[in-house]
This record gives sequence, structure tokens and C-alpha cells, in this order.
Amino acid sequence: MSEYAIEMLGITKTFPGIIANDNVDLRIKKNEVHAILGENGAGKSTLMSILFGAYAPDSGQIKINGQAVDIKNPNVATALGIGMVHQHFKLVHNYTVTENIVLGREPRNRFGIVSLNQAEKRVRELSERYGFMVDPRAKIDDITVGQQQRVEILKTLYSDSDIIILDEPTAVLTPQEIDELMEIIRKLKAEGKTIVLITHKLKEIKAVADRCSVLRRGKFIGCIDITPNTSEQELATMMVGRSVKFDIDKAPCKPGEKVLEIKNLCVKDSIGTMKVKDLSLDVRRGEIVGIAGVDGNGQSELLYALSGLSPIQSGEVILSGKVINKDTIRERIEEGMGHIPEDRQKHGLVAGLTVAENIVLKDFYSPKYTGKFGVLNYKAIDESAVKLIEEFDIRTAQGPHTPAGSLSGGNQQKVIVAREISLSPDVLLVAQPTRGLDVGAIEYIRKRVVEERDKGRGVLLISFELDEVMNLCDRIATISKGSIVGVFDAGEVTSQEIGLMMTGIKAKEGK
Ligand SMILES: Nc1ncnc2c1ncn2[C@@H]1O[C@H](COP(=O)(O)OP(=O)(O)O)[C@@H](O)[C@H]1O
Ligand SMILES: [Mg+2]
Repeated sequence: MSEYAIEMLGITKTFPGIIANDNVDLRIKKNEVHAILGENGAGKSTLMSILFGAYAPDSGQIKINGQAVDIKNPNVATALGIGMVHQHFKLVHNYTVTENIVLGREPRNRFGIVSLNQAEKRVRELSERYGFMVDPRAKIDDITVGQQQRVEILKTLYSDSDIIILDEPTAVLTPQEIDELMEIIRKLKAEGKTIVLITHKLKEIKAVADRCSVLRRGKFIGCIDITPNTSEQELATMMVGRSVKFDIDKAPCKPGEKVLEIKNLCVKDSIGTMKVKDLSLDVRRGEIVGIAGVDGNGQSELLYALSGLSPIQSGEVILSGKVINKDTIRERIEEGMGHIPEDRQKHGLVAGLTVAENIVLKDFYSPKYTGKFGVLNYKAIDESAVKLIEEFDIRTAQGPHTPAGSLSGGNQQKVIVAREISLSPDVLLVAQPTRGLDVGAIEYIRKRVVEERDKGRGVLLISFELDEVMNLCDRIATISKGSIVGVFDAGEVTSQEIGLMMTGIKAKEGK
């Protein structure tokens, strides 16, 4: 008997213009939790899709329990006991949990009529056994994303999979749900399953994995045992290919004059609830001011109002001495406001346009690009894009002509950051700049934000990650229920104190 549940040997898979997997070897032991670590675009999903029979490799061999197999399609994978929970769930929303689980293999009674009673019973048993708390009769539409993920896991259990592949399962979960998923993974292991966990989050690997294989730019870098002594630094270095800084190097800030003044601002959300209440805050040149708070306390509405995406009820926004309350988005951009928005897809990028088109999205009408007859000069646009792609290390398949929607999250974010920074704004509004990114991209984007500060721009940063605020900002304002509770110089408060204030408690006198 082989020691390995899975061996993938010499796997190569190319897509037009890119080698997604380059002669990769992966060996997964029976009944282990095996993490596959790699940055966005490293080739993790491709490798697992090959194992699941969704893609055919160009070359290489797969063995299951020591036997060479030919996994032509996902049905073969299922028959071999391999189940996969994809990054984007494949559930029918107006069907029930059980209907989704039996989809395509509906049990029929002796009259040939679909009968879900038995299936429902089995789903309930599995759900209870693994502590899922999923109601077999609930409609997918009515359950949380975390529960939908459990339905996907139940699907693999229902077909008796021994090997369960989870592709970036925590990307969509809340911190609480992540802890619960970690418990579920431990439980699956205790029941004898082999788990493959794809992730780029080092904490999760430390929490549940027995071993970890690392991919970088399509290549297999190595496999290491995870012990209590394994350092996150070591994993990060393997993943990125160089040592990564978790703490940001920054010189003390040298604040200049006020560049953004927010006075008694009130803003309503789209359904008319006042979400920002009498909020006042200043940002000076050469400093990063962070707003720390729990999601939903008016942060998004504040940024919408500052950037012009939604109207101001009362109060004033002053940019470099000028009231801009009534100015359009384009006017604000021209007056020196940059915005790295919270929702990349919705407000940051046009997915159907190319990288080059996205890069000039905010100044394509400038003489630089239109020439004297007002016709877009694509050569000039491409040249700007190529320069920024290089400067910001944006990984693209077809250079400036790559559709923005096809880039990985980290690279999409770099496109936005490149565009906003290249416009040399006086004030940069930054919302959740590193959400969902891998460590290499996080480090890079934070470094660029600090560089902007050092060039004398004022930066207003919103992040739900307290670590990020504590690390990056020179002053920290805590927000609760739409108002600022306190403003402190970084270094004179602890994250515990900030955490307390985020819940609305005034712990000490602000400045
Ligand atoms: N169906 C596809 N067509 C073309 N390129 C693809 C396809 N799937 C993945 N790629 C490319 O292959 C590389 C690896 O992607 P992927 O396996 O999804 O990485 P990961 O899961 O590690 O983020 C990326 O550059 C990605 O753009
Ligand atoms: Mg992936």
C-alpha cells in the first residue's frame, strides 16, 4: 500500500501565453491536512482542477493510493473518492439544500418518481455528525454564505469522498465562520478524510495543516511539515521568493498644512438612514490618518461622500482650502483627490476594459492622450500603461491589452493603485486596500501608500483590519455609529484601547 493518497507527478498545464503549472510534483499523505500555499495566480486552482478532472494536463501522471489513474472528468474524480469545493460555489439558489446535494443523481422510488425523503435523512445525519447545523430543507437563498459552503462540503460527503479539496474556503467567510471551518476541517480529519486546503493565509496553515506544499509562478517550490515552530516568515519567503516584511518601515511623519478638512459632515445611505453623523476630521499633508472601526459604522458612506459617489446632507468637505461639497467626481479628481475604493469590481475597475484603458480611465480626455483632434492616441495610452505595469509589477498575460477582469485580485488592485498614484493627488482616500490580497501584494501596496505620504500627500485610510491601521497610520481616529470617538497619535494608544473605542466606549480623552 502506498503512503500517499495522491501523487501528482510532473504535471504541466499551459493556457495561452501562460504556464499555469510547470512540472509540478505534489504528494499528499493519507488522512493529512495538506495545505497548498501560493500567491494569487501561482497555479493552485489549476492544479486542483486537474486532480478533479476539470482540466486535462498537457503532461504528467496522477496516482491515487499508488495506482495510476486517468481522471478524464469530474465524474471519474467523484468515483475515485475525490470531492472539490470550488472558490465560487456551484449551487442552485432557489433549490433546497438537499435538492442541491442530489442534483443530477436524484433518488427515485420504485415508481420512478423522485423521492427526497431518504436523501434528506442522510443529509441531516451527515450535517449532525459533522456539526454543520444545516437544515436539509432550507433554500440556498435563505442561508448564509458560510452555510452554503457547508452544503458544498456536504455534497462531497454525500458522495463518500475520502479526499476533499477546499479551494480558498475562507476568502468569503467572517472571522467567526473561519474559526468554525477550522473546527470542521479538524473533524473531517478525525473521521479519516484527507483534506487539501488551498490558501494564501499563513495563519490558517499554522492552525490546521500537517504539511504544506508551496507553488510560485506555476512551479513547485517545496513541501514542509507544519509544526508549532514553523515560522510564518519562512512560509511567506517560500511563497513570495524573498523575505517579506510584515511590519512597515516608515520614517516619522512630517505633517504639513491641512489638505482635507471634514466639518460636521452628515451623510445618508441609499435607503435614507443617516450613517455619518456630525463627523469632523482633518488630514494634513505628509500624514496617514486611519479610521478604525467595525464594518458598517459609516466608513463606506463617509468615503462615498468625500469622493462624490453620494451626496452630502450637511456639513463641509474642504480640499486644499476649497469647499467641494457640490463638485462632481471628475471635478474632485481634477482638484487633486485620489480614491482607492473599497469595492474594486464596482467602483475601481471596468472588468471588460483592458489594463491600459483602466489605467487612463480618469484622465483619458487629457491632451496627453487625445492629441489636438480629440482622437484617443492608443500608442500614448499603451506607453503609459506599459510603464506603470512595470513600475507596479502588475502581472498580466497580454501586457496592456489584458482584460482587467481576468487579472488576479492582487493585480487588479495594483492597477487601481497605479492609476490613482500616477495622477499625483493631494489627498488619497484609501479603503480596505489589501483586503483579499496575498502577502507580497499587501507588502507592496502598503509600501506605496507610505511613499505617497512621504511625497507630501495626505492619506485617509479606512480599514477593518486593526493591525493594518495600527501599522500604517500616523494618527488614528476611531469611528462608531457614524461619529469619531477619539483621535490619537499612533504610538500613544494600544490596539486594545482602539478596539474598545470601536465599540463606542470613550476610553480616554482624544486630541
Ligand atoms: N481557464 C483559464 N484560461 C486562461 N488562463 C488561466 C485559466 N485558468 C487559470 N489561468 C491562468 O493560470 C494562472 C494560474 O491560475 P490559478 O491556477 O487560478 O492560480 P491560483 O489559484 O493560484 O490563484 C494564472 O495566471 C491565471 O490567469
Ligand atoms: Mg485559485
